[in-house]
Amino acid sequence: MNITIIGGGAWGTTLAQVLTDNGHQPLIYDINQTTIDIINTHRHPFYDCQIPTNIKATNHLDEALAFADWLVLSMPSKAVRDALSAIKPHLFRPVVIINVAKGIEPDTSKRISEITKEVIPPEFLKGYVVLTGPSHAEEVILRRPTLLVSASEDEALAKQVRQVFNNEDYLRIYTSTDVIGCELGGAVKNAIAVISGACTGLNLGENARAAVITRGIVEIVRVVEAMGGRKETAFGLTGIGDLIVTASSEHSRNFRAGKKIGQGMTVAQIYAEEKQTIEGIRTIEAMHHLAAQKGIELPLIEAAYGILQGRVSASEATSHLLKRTLKSEDF
Ligand SMILES: NC(=O)c1ccc[n+]([C@@H]2O[C@H](COP(=O)([O-])OP(=O)(O)OC[C@H]3O[C@@H](n4cnc5c(N)ncnc54)[C@H](O)[C@@H]3O)[C@@H](O)[C@H]2O)c1
Repeated sequence: MNITIIGGGAWGTTLAQVLTDNGHQPLIYDINQTTIDIINTHRHPFYDCQIPTNIKATNHLDEALAFADWLVLSMPSKAVRDALSAIKPHLFRPVVIINVAKGIEPDTSKRISEITKEVIPPEFLKGYVVLTGPSHAEEVILRRPTLLVSASEDEALAKQVRQVFNNEDYLRIYTSTDVIGCELGGAVKNAIAVISGACTGLNLGENARAAVITRGIVEIVRVVEAMGGRKETAFGLTGIGDLIVTASSEHSRNFRAGKKIGQGMTVAQIYAEEKQTIEGIRTIEAMHHLAAQKGIELPLIEAAYGILQGRVSASEATSHLLKRTLKSEDF
């Protein structure tokens, strides 16, 4: 089947290869002409490799929307609202939105499913699916074994998306109906990965990193439960699984950004160096607002927010965390 991918970056172009491997025809739409030109010469825009010749890219939104009624959103989460607003006037039939972006809107604390339902009128939204899980694009492009979850309130649609993306050689897809849990797990783990990276940058040791990852899971569970998702989802691929792959890997931009923060760089300096998305920094801000609104206890996120705001140094934040009131670990 035909599938349009909105955003041909590291992940979008990699998913295009998955789709061609599975016998489908993707068309990539992107706003960056250099990216489009690279894809149209059959190269990956971020990795030094060829991509299948039937992957094409365009900067014409009308062409992209006429091509397919399944749209994969694969841009930074901060671009999603604007991208959907640009898409809306060009829609002439209902579409299925498959979101692969991982993030929360800082000002509104909204998930991407909520933003989608806000921007796209119901008569043009046939369904919404989030496809997420532990997946470094640089490994999927090499067809290394990877597991994802296709989650939708419409279980039949989640299964259809599973069918289209699943590849018996390297990409195994599970389904879920817990969209809230899957979206929040994928977003909050990026924030915890920044903190885990900061721990490494501060040279605090592996004990400290294990502590951050484990207590990070507790914070993911608290957010998921407070927002109406299922706690068990946080213990699956989209929560703990994605946290494991992100929170200790140099492949992860979030981990690397945190490491630089631990080494004393400011967020402005990091953004000046890194041209790709660092979702976790924005998610820390979003989680700080959400925690205040909903009364959720998120000490790691709060410590990271203080550092990002320049209110405390990374070592002061560590000291503050260690001096918190002693507690039981019982859930
Ligand atoms: N890179 C990965 O390994 C990976 C894996 C799973 C999920 N994700 C998630 O996927 C999302 C995209 O990540 P990425 O690594 O591909 O980012 P990226 O920065 O490599 O690419 C994003 C692409 O989106 C394009 N874009 C931005 N605004 C747009 C708009 N309005 N319309 C169309 N295109 C637009 C950019 O030009 C760019 O080509 C992020 O939310 C990320 O968390 C990434």
